[in-house]
Amino acid sequence: MSTRPTVSPNELEQIDLASPILHAEYELDEVFRYLRANRPMYWQEPRGEQPGFWVISRYADVNEVYKDKAHFTTENGNALATLLTGGDSASGAMLAVTDGVRHHQLRNVLSKGFSPRMLDLITNSLRATVDELLLAALERGECDAAQDISANVPLGAICDLLEIPQSDRKYLLGLTAHAWSTDHADEPPEEGWVAKNEILLYFSKLLKERRAGDRDDMVSLLANCRIDGDPLNPAEQMANCYGLMIGGDETGRHAITGTILALIENPDQWRALKNGDVDLKTATEEALRWTVPSLHGGRKATGDVVINGQQIKAGDVVSVWISSANRDETVFDAPDEFRLARTPNKHFTFAYGSHYCLGHHLGRMEVYAVLDGLRRLVGDLEQIGEERWIYSSILHGMSSLPIRLRSEG
Ligand code: HEM
Repeated sequence: MSTRPTVSPNELEQIDLASPILHAEYELDEVFRYLRANRPMYWQEPRGEQPGFWVISRYADVNEVYKDKAHFTTENGNALATLLTGGDSASGAMLAVTDGVRHHQLRNVLSKGFSPRMLDLITNSLRATVDELLLAALERGECDAAQDISANVPLGAICDLLEIPQSDRKYLLGLTAHAWSTDHADEPPEEGWVAKNEILLYFSKLLKERRAGDRDDMVSLLANCRIDGDPLNPAEQMANCYGLMIGGDETGRHAITGTILALIENPDQWRALKNGDVDLKTATEEALRWTVPSLHGGRKATGDVVINGQQIKAGDVVSVWISSANRDETVFDAPDEFRLARTPNKHFTFAYGSHYCLGHHLGRMEVYAVLDGLRRLVGDLEQIGEERWIYSSILHGMSSLPIRLRSEG
């Protein structure tokens, strides 16, 4: 029941694709359809103090940029919000904004945290959490899917991975919700900085506690690992705890709320899910293609390079739009239809190339667990109030989705 106005392609030169207000309050499907067809390599002119940047909308060109480590880096930021405002303070320390040899070394360390033992543990606790949340919502009959269901699923999984004490989890949830997006158009950026600093401080204490212990959670791994005989420096340890928390929490939440809305808006697909007509793994991929929790990827060009015939100059800021590539009509059949049985489905929701999402297994497990829980426990779903979209130019999702649920039978 979204009532957001659609932006017409005629307004392209006036809108700012880096504006959180634009993404929260307007539908941009027509703009991106136009860009893919007519201006696949679009240069958004500077707006006031804000520098210009490339807007890349076609699947094939997004793929080119993601693959090209020689000409594009994340070290100045991997989202427009940081790239256009002087860079990312975690550059060279946090995995997502580090490149080259150090990126490879850090990625090797962090990958070890996703051991089969840990993933098995999380699978079981995810199922239990989702069942508990859905049963509680069913008992009440109504709930806010974003706050009462989605908000509690990924945070639990990532906290399991980091072994965050139960008593601290609510506090961290409040902080992560403010670090990269807000519920309000006019929230000052300082709110986000304060939240980020509090998260970093929290992890600095936890890392200290876990030093020299023999646990195998991700915080202990970061606190005690060695690369070429040397421990990670404190900035790397804190930044990567933070990166996992942020990367692992909010994206998953938006994928889940978006999936619930898509099922409500597509009753035939809800029935297909309920009747067991679709394989849950296949359905998970379509839910991820559709919901696009991360709208774009941001890069800076490190050298002159030509993409789709367009010269990009060293130093240019480039944005590749996952939201657009996932709807590219030259790759996906009927891309604007939500089809749970869609195969093949090589979406870019987790990006591609060297920065491909480290937590993609976990992200997939979360959406799978929710689809499975809905299929088993819920008879019917209905939206009972308008959803509220978050203000962010990178994250895409809802902070509120009021729904009514009925159980089976
Ligand atoms: C990277 C999306 C879940 C941790 C990324 C990137 C995307 C993404 C698009 C690439 C960023 C870039 O290219 O600049 C998502 C989505 C998720 C999800 C949509 C859920 C549905 C998770 C989870 C974790 C996680 C659960 C951690 C437990 C990371 C990390 C990176 C990353 C550490 C950086 C990888 C690197 O630079 O090598 N994610 N993510 N993500 N994600 Fe996720």
